[in-house]
Amino acid sequence: MQIKKVVVIGSGTMGSGIAAHLCNANIPVTLLDLKTDISEKAREKILKSRPPLLIDSSKIENIKVGNIIDDFKVVKEADWIVEAVVERIDIKHNIYEKIFKERKEGAIVSSNTSSIPLKVLSEKISNQEKKDFCITHFFNPVRYMGLLEIVKNENNDLGKVNSLKKFCENELGKGTIICNDTPGFLGNRIGVYAMQVAMTEAFKMKLSIEEADAVFGRPMGIPKTGVFGLYDLIGIDLMADVLKSFIKELPEEDKFQIVAKEIPLVKKLIETGYTGRKGKGGFYRMKKIENKKILEAINLETGEYSQSKKINLNLEKVDLKNLINREDKYGKYAWSVISKIIKYASSLVPGITDKFNDIDEAMRLGFNWYQGPFEMLKEIGVKNFFNKIDNFENNKFLENLSKSQDENFYGQRQLYTEIETLGKIKSKATKLDKNKSAEIYRFNDFNIVEFTTKANALDYDSMDSLKKATDKPLIIINESMQFSAGVNLTYTMNFADKGDFKSIEKFVKYFQETCKHLKYSKFPVISAPSGLTLGGGFEVLVQSNFVATHTNIVIGLVETIVGLIPAGGGCKEMLWRWSQTEDAKKNPEFAPLKVFDIIGYAKTATSPIEAEPLKYLMPEDKKIMNRNSLLDVSRNILNENKEFKAPSECNFNLPGKELKEKMIKLLEKLYNEKIILDHGMVVGTELANVLSGGDTTIDKTISEDDFFNLELNSFMRLIETKKTQERIKHTLATGKPLVN
Ligand code: NAI
Repeated sequence: MQIKKVVVIGSGTMGSGIAAHLCNANIPVTLLDLKTDISEKAREKILKSRPPLLIDSSKIENIKVGNIIDDFKVVKEADWIVEAVVERIDIKHNIYEKIFKERKEGAIVSSNTSSIPLKVLSEKISNQEKKDFCITHFFNPVRYMGLLEIVKNENNDLGKVNSLKKFCENELGKGTIICNDTPGFLGNRIGVYAMQVAMTEAFKMKLSIEEADAVFGRPMGIPKTGVFGLYDLIGIDLMADVLKSFIKELPEEDKFQIVAKEIPLVKKLIETGYTGRKGKGGFYRMKKIENKKILEAINLETGEYSQSKKINLNLEKVDLKNLINREDKYGKYAWSVISKIIKYASSLVPGITDKFNDIDEAMRLGFNWYQGPFEMLKEIGVKNFFNKIDNFENNKFLENLSKSQDENFYGQRQLYTEIETLGKIKSKATKLDKNKSAEIYRFNDFNIVEFTTKANALDYDSMDSLKKATDKPLIIINESMQFSAGVNLTYTMNFADKGDFKSIEKFVKYFQETCKHLKYSKFPVISAPSGLTLGGGFEVLVQSNFVATHTNIVIGLVETIVGLIPAGGGCKEMLWRWSQTEDAKKNPEFAPLKVFDIIGYAKTATSPIEAEPLKYLMPEDKKIMNRNSLLDVSRNILNENKEFKAPSECNFNLPGKELKEKMIKLLEKLYNEKIILDHGMVVGTELANVLSGGDTTIDKTISEDDFFNLELNSFMRLIETKKTQERIKHTLATGKPLVN
């Protein structure tokens, strides 16, 4: 069974996302809706989507559009037809009737429904047709969410379902989990239950929405939107519809029913247009006061809004044991929510799946949780859990576990895939070392470094781990969302606030030394990024010997935004890459000017396709759709490079003063047009100084170490200025740039 052509019917949020992602995989796809102009508009929306749904926006034309009357004949050609129309059974039934009349023999037909059971969807189709019919439940946004749930029926041709699974894993890069036909499948059943518990407990325990979100967020290993923030993001009205369908589909005694009851405040919000971010606001709203945008939060008791308060639990890392044992209301809330989620999820085994492991993975892939309920139980510890829990009657899973008290009940991870993932390898590897920012694993004859800080921001300890791990071939890879958002600015600012610039200098030097070490160590070093790969994160990557990158990355040198310049070798490597071009060989100003433009504007790319023209990535770097395969591909690189030899050192001949003056002229133009302000001039001038080679002439050779010094000196001059410090503080506080 080969899938070479696909038709997607329904070009709304999901249909367009699925079509875009098929386009990402270079699969010809046609998008049909009631009218052609609806699907045409969908294509425009794809182009404007942020974050972008397309890896390569120039391929938009590969998504053909049409309508279900005039263009339905395309269905004849398709190997797979995906239905993603509105969640109405009558409409879906009609479409299946049309599809099965038209499709070629054996073509797969699937629905993207999130709530209609497969047995209801397939009520009107013959047993023969059921062989090729299933649910393929993608998550929004399709390019970025890792989970795909496939729901099969008892008539399915299993070989075909398996080849669809393989296709979705390998070509579309999805973590594909086969599920039973039960309401909400795995992800939504547990994910929506968890949201409802977090919400209803916040009401009961009288927590403010900011407090609830602060607990049901990072400290629990859940994205920082928390529960009320996530409600606003999804749409409060949409969530109400989802709950209605769960209430309808689930038996009365299901514990979901208790937490899905309508809440008067929520009803009022929907009625008054407070449906979340797409409406007037929701639990949170933005208010303009004297031209300043202020974030407000609702009071769950009175329904009034007031300025939102930042809650700091002083917990940077997931540490459930600590969290649930806190004596304060946060600890009590956390335990109440976590214990209920664990109880509910385990009560559904084996009903919704006989592999509890799949539930955890669905939460990771579909909701971006750091770990699922069973891993939470493992982290808390079986003994601790049963010491604390009140009751668990009618829960076979917990009854058995309470008898066995088996702390090692968990077993292998990621059973849904055959790929040898990082998650699987980590459990077989030896943990060689660990500090507060990174862990080193040894597996067979290579090392793995995984960063472990928030957004994998880098500090002295991260560098220390990298350096230590180069005694064997090294793969730098991680399971959390981001490869690395760059150097830890809080860490840097803590020194700056004390006036301790010596410590900053020591850190930057160590950063440089480590990166040089990565580049020239005896054994190959591979970076395998996904997500943010910015600033210092990019500098680690660019000084690795090989790259295997996920297609979902945001990559670039963004230091100038916070009033700095790349000083870990970022300027040097970018200049080196651009110096290798034909244009650069003819014109010594070409490469420095190019890099001046790229770093000066802090350009970023949102995919490997965008990254290559900037030379953030190179043609030989491996680009991979399935994040699960990054380790496997990296291991292949190691196997293919047994005779690895470190590269020879690079050096530069740069024009110096006259080029610097040219660059400053460019800055002055921007300054006169008010595109940059005073400090923009200062930062730009330092960048010009580095990229022109400083005090040099074209006949002098600048070594790699000289270049590191140029970077370091400019960096130090900038970090000591008040205005750079203001930029950093502003970005740390708001996540936004400060133009000064
Ligand atoms: P949507 O409302 O954004 O889009 C539905 C599209 O179907 C519209 O463009 C509409 O014009 C079109 N349509 C309606 N009747 C049609 C017909 N007879 N023939 C062709 N097109 C027709 O809906 P959305 O959100 O994209 O949902 C689609 C499906 O995906 C639903 O089954 C929903 O339950 C499911 N789903 C939605 C998710 C989400 O986050 N929005 C997530 C996962 C699944």
